[in-house]
Amino acid sequence: MNKMKIATIVGARPQFVKAAIVSKALRTTENIEEVIIHTGQHFDNNMSEIFFDEMKISRPDYNLNIHSLSHGAMTGQMLEKIEEVLKIENPDLVLLYGDTNSTLAGAIAAKKLNIKIAHVEAGLRSNNIKMPEEINRILTDRISDYLFCPSELAVNNLFKEGFNNFNCKIYLSGDVMYDAYLQHLGRARKPNIELPSTFILASIHRSENTDFSTNLLSIIDAFEEQSRTIQIVMPLHPRTKKKLSDFRFNLGESHIFFIDPVGFHEMIWLLQNCKVVITDSGGLQKEAYFNNKYCITVREETEWIELVNMGVNKLVKPSKAEILESINQIIQLPMFRKENVYGSGYAGEFILDSIYTDWINSTRL
Ligand code: UD1
Repeated sequence: MNKMKIATIVGARPQFVKAAIVSKALRTTENIEEVIIHTGQHFDNNMSEIFFDEMKISRPDYNLNIHSLSHGAMTGQMLEKIEEVLKIENPDLVLLYGDTNSTLAGAIAAKKLNIKIAHVEAGLRSNNIKMPEEINRILTDRISDYLFCPSELAVNNLFKEGFNNFNCKIYLSGDVMYDAYLQHLGRARKPNIELPSTFILASIHRSENTDFSTNLLSIIDAFEEQSRTIQIVMPLHPRTKKKLSDFRFNLGESHIFFIDPVGFHEMIWLLQNCKVVITDSGGLQKEAYFNNKYCITVREETEWIELVNMGVNKLVKPSKAEILESINQIIQLPMFRKENVYGSGYAGEFILDSIYTDWINSTRL
């Protein structure tokens, strides 16, 4: 019997975490062969390699080494190189994750070669079309054949946009990030540095918060002041580090506890041991929730509206006063009870079953 060939396309940190879960499920089926294409968008050891090691993802079959370019140049070069690889490999299906430039480039390359696309984390919307991620996810969803939604809200978004009239299959799969959290919880590890005994965990990297000095420096100013009472521990994303240096911010003189980006297991430990989380990351908002921590999201909108509706996630503008006031409020709240809004930890298996069963049925026709 023929094997089903799947090309997984990844490039940025959150995609390694998601792909780890689905790849693990795929590799339980002998009849599936997976080829991993890493675009190279994230390339530092602690932004890429560490996730392949910790989460036991097979080494990429191809590394396209494309990074540090403008959106157009990056997406364009990825499109060209991914097309070359797909022509060589000729997979039955391309697996894409999330909302990065690597996702969009993979989608366009596959669709123009008439290769089926499965999009994991489909249907998310911030409704802010100025965000590069929003553009990437809308366009990817539109040309995908299988749309795996992490939450009911994501399914509803697709229906509102009329996706039920398109030639695609929409599934409520649950969130592979929840699978990842459950599978790796037992391996949480304290980072190998002396940390404050009580701390708030922060991460900031989105372009809307880092590109303009007014936004980034207001956020950092709030963190600086906060750190005089409860210290902020902040794993520093390379984009943010570069921008802080451009804006002449002196890391050495700060009260903020800056650390290098950490791997997945150290991040789970930080989440378990912090008081609250402040972030603009998509993934961390949910990981805060999985770890029963309140989250302050420094954005005007979020894709994870269910968390805001439950009262465990608060949106704030990049304003010093708003951030400090929100920390003050949220830190005093009692513990919350989690609801099962992101599935039950079997999204990876669900995705495998759906695409593999469909492929078997199509080969029988
Ligand atoms: C990208 C994704 C975003 C995702 C995020 C996760 C897009 C449009 N954005 O944003 O959706 O939430 O990844 O982190 O695709 N850099 C390094 N070392 C690295 C990686 C990046 O120095 O290992 C530098 C790059 O050279 C660049 C900057 O960091 O100057 C930003 O990287 P980029 O890939 O443009 O986007 P992210 O901000 O990471």
